[in-house]
Amino acid sequence: METGTVVRAARYHATGIPADVLQVDEITLPPPAPGQVRVRMLAAPINPADLNMLEGKYGESRPLPDVPGNEGVGRVLATGDGVPSDWLGQQVLVDSEAWREQGNWDVSGLVRVPDTIAPRDAAFLRVNPPTAWRLLHDFVPLQPGDWIVQNLAGSSVGRAVIEIARRRGWKTLNVVRRPEAAEELRALGADAVLVDGPSLAEEFGAVLGGVKPKLALNAVGGAAATRLAGLLATGGTMVTYGAMSKEALKIPNGFLIFRDISFRGFWLTRWLRGAGEEVRKEMFDGIFTLAEEGLFRPPVTAEFPLGQVSKAVAAASEGARGKILLHLGD
Ligand SMILES: NC(=O)c1ccc[n+]([C@@H]2O[C@H](COP(=O)([O-])OP(=O)(O)OC[C@H]3O[C@@H](n4cnc5c(N)ncnc54)[C@H](OP(=O)(O)O)[C@@H]3O)[C@@H](O)[C@H]2O)c1
Repeated sequence: METGTVVRAARYHATGIPADVLQVDEITLPPPAPGQVRVRMLAAPINPADLNMLEGKYGESRPLPDVPGNEGVGRVLATGDGVPSDWLGQQVLVDSEAWREQGNWDVSGLVRVPDTIAPRDAAFLRVNPPTAWRLLHDFVPLQPGDWIVQNLAGSSVGRAVIEIARRRGWKTLNVVRRPEAAEELRALGADAVLVDGPSLAEEFGAVLGGVKPKLALNAVGGAAATRLAGLLATGGTMVTYGAMSKEALKIPNGFLIFRDISFRGFWLTRWLRGAGEEVRKEMFDGIFTLAEEGLFRPPVTAEFPLGQVSKAVAAASEGARGKILLHLGD
């Protein structure tokens, strides 16, 4: 009879303050079931959604104890029955339970990523670039030269929006909360960067003249979202995909009545569950091609081994400027 493999995994047995509820447990993995593969994990970032999940404030909860990590990269070590042998040795992206040394995943949920992309770059490709990709392609038809406006522009999603838009010939006006972020975003290809505040509309007018964007991307919420929607053209669309301020949207009646602004939402998890294999593959192929050219590399401020996962989430919760990366393998 085959015995299980003992591996270490970060787990939370209750929700609460992320650094307090996380611990490193030893768990026994059975051999991969039919349709599954065993993956040795290499690296995973800590994203805002991971912290929300640990706090019990995410859009859906998971049975406890749970291994966190909405994305990460690893390599296939073994295959279960019915899995084609060409999966063996593949570098893959996982979409759940990433913060562990090894795990078994259904192949249907994995994305193969080319070896030309190093693990520390691949670790960031499963969530944020696809979100940016969908935000730019699924809501408003854009022509070359059209402007898009976004807040949270210094985030990984915001940076990916800038990089993809630049490749497509769309212009981005980027709203940030820290003036220091401007130079970095211009280097990525941002056409304009403004610091959020009461004079945003005035400064926007000075940059764009009479031009008004058709698409706004909001991940802050509260008054910042109201200011962003105020910049849109009549009939424009604001898509909310995050709420970093944790403040509710406040929409003036006139935005709907007189200006016909549409307010939409986006959640990648829902999109991936509904998307066909072909459209998912087309998106990831596009993202990997750009990643091979050096795109989608958010600044990494600190790196921690799995054994220091509590320290790592504490650093991420404190709002470290840039990403925290977990090293999970050898
Ligand atoms: N809907 C979806 O499917 C989906 C998918 C992916 C991500 N998201 C969401 O997208 C957002 C960005 O995620 P990410 O991984 O790209 O983030 P990230 O790279 O970790 O960056 C976080 C950003 O948030 C900014 N920030 C933090 N608190 C803020 C506040 N109160 N007001 C304004 N800015 C604030 C930081 O600004 P500084 O640089 O000034 O510190 C930083 O730029 C998150 O809300 C995440 O949950 C949603």
